[in-house]
Amino acid sequence: MAASTVDLPARGSFPEVKLAKKAPKKADALLVVAFKGEEGLELPASSLLGGSATRALYESLTAVGATGKANEVTRVPAPAKAGVASVIAVGLGDADELDDETMRRAAGTAARALKGVGTVATSLGDFGLAAAVEGIILGGYNHRGIRSSELADKEAPATVVFADDKSKAKEFEAAKIGAESVLLARDLVNTPSNFLYPESYAEFLRAQGEEVGLDVEILDEKELKKQGFGGILSVGQGSARPPRLVRLTWAPRKAKRSVALVGKGITFDTGGISLKPGSGMWDMISDMGGSAAMAASIIAAAKLELPVKVTATLPLAENMPSGSATRPGDVITHYGGKTSEVLNTDAEGRLVLADAIARASEDNPDYLLETATLTGAQMVALGDRTAGIMGSDELRDHLAELGRSVGENAWAMPLLEEHDEQLKSGNADMRNIHVKREGGMEFAGTYLKQFVGEGIEWAHIDIAGPSMNGGSAWGYTPKQATGVPVRTIIAALTEISQQKKKK
Ligand code: BES
Ligand code: MN
Ligand code: ZN
Repeated sequence: MAASTVDLPARGSFPEVKLAKKAPKKADALLVVAFKGEEGLELPASSLLGGSATRALYESLTAVGATGKANEVTRVPAPAKAGVASVIAVGLGDADELDDETMRRAAGTAARALKGVGTVATSLGDFGLAAAVEGIILGGYNHRGIRSSELADKEAPATVVFADDKSKAKEFEAAKIGAESVLLARDLVNTPSNFLYPESYAEFLRAQGEEVGLDVEILDEKELKKQGFGGILSVGQGSARPPRLVRLTWAPRKAKRSVALVGKGITFDTGGISLKPGSGMWDMISDMGGSAAMAASIIAAAKLELPVKVTATLPLAENMPSGSATRPGDVITHYGGKTSEVLNTDAEGRLVLADAIARASEDNPDYLLETATLTGAQMVALGDRTAGIMGSDELRDHLAELGRSVGENAWAMPLLEEHDEQLKSGNADMRNIHVKREGGMEFAGTYLKQFVGEGIEWAHIDIAGPSMNGGSAWGYTPKQATGVPVRTIIAALTEISQQKKKK
């Protein structure tokens, strides 16, 4: 059965976070920090526990071997008169080396131990409020999947109360909005493709977008044809589920700059006629991760009321093999008129992105940021936790740095001059592959560059690896969808919104 057109079948659960002037009287547990000093465990003083309770806690923790090393989670019965049943201590390592990422990872690791605990009062915020809030929400996320039975009560997400004064409310709220946006992207990516296909995905984005005050425009297959979106149509034509182009716009009055966001939205990638091997093909439910990240980011921009104009252009299509599918050797005409020879139908992401980038460029934005699960070559080059960023020199380098600063690892990659030659086709303006293994990520970057409008600062972020975590949960990164690079994009939009004068 198909899902309703608007609801996702399953949203993941996650801890509720609250900011309160005082710790709640009726908490079930305390979550405190521990450091690793030269002589072992160190417990900083906190408003949650008095001096004698802290000393008693120290005894309990050392008795069970706690050292305070980063990401160590230790749960012990609470000292008498603490007013709670248990205390959970999370290690932050060396106090002198504490940074945001250490806090996020430790808070995320702790969050996984909080399921079923109830209400938890924490002093984590004293050592980095925004990072702690992000870590708790991101690490405590639990994707239930689609199951016939409800989760048992003991797995219910905790409520985590940060005791801090009102002056921190804005920082707290922004961190919460950012982290919850990451979860939206994760939910979309984790949703199977029989539920999330171009039409249902577009309608979901319409509902979500309108709710936060975005303008929403959806082009269906007829409109796509009328306007000449040959790349999107070509990739979608093998599927019984027709493609869509979603345009979301956040246009606040005070905006001085404009940013175009573009994200790959292949709701399932079989490879098409250039069919992928069956083993592991199921991971291709995540091939819309770029579009999910950009949708989540523009929704965050609206919730944060960032004074920057943002337009997200999201091409959605399902890449299937069938009697109506595109053949290797076909030549297609993109939005704007450029043509591509499709030598490999599995290099489909760039075909839909070409149309979307050309359309987004028409608005003449100051910046064009695009992200996609584009190439297996990205993982060969950089592994599965580090995104590859290509594009205009300065923006590329800055985004890579920004990504690293928020804990979404990224590395600047060059575009290669030899690829200009290898792009040439005997039958069209260009071909979609260079028929080589070497430099596959960079070739895709050069291909996309052909569609970026003159004078627009642009960046392409290949997230084939980092969008999904095939291993077990670590830090604040759960199994499966990670929501990368939502926090990088929000950070970039925030920075751009603060730029004053026109260049
Ligand atoms: N969606 C894939 C890339 C991908 C692979 C993402 C694995 C995440 C995990 C993309 O559409 C693709 O198939 N790329 C081809 C390009 C090739 C045919 C030039 C690839 O990387 O093999
Ligand atoms: Mn593909
Ligand atoms: Zn793909």
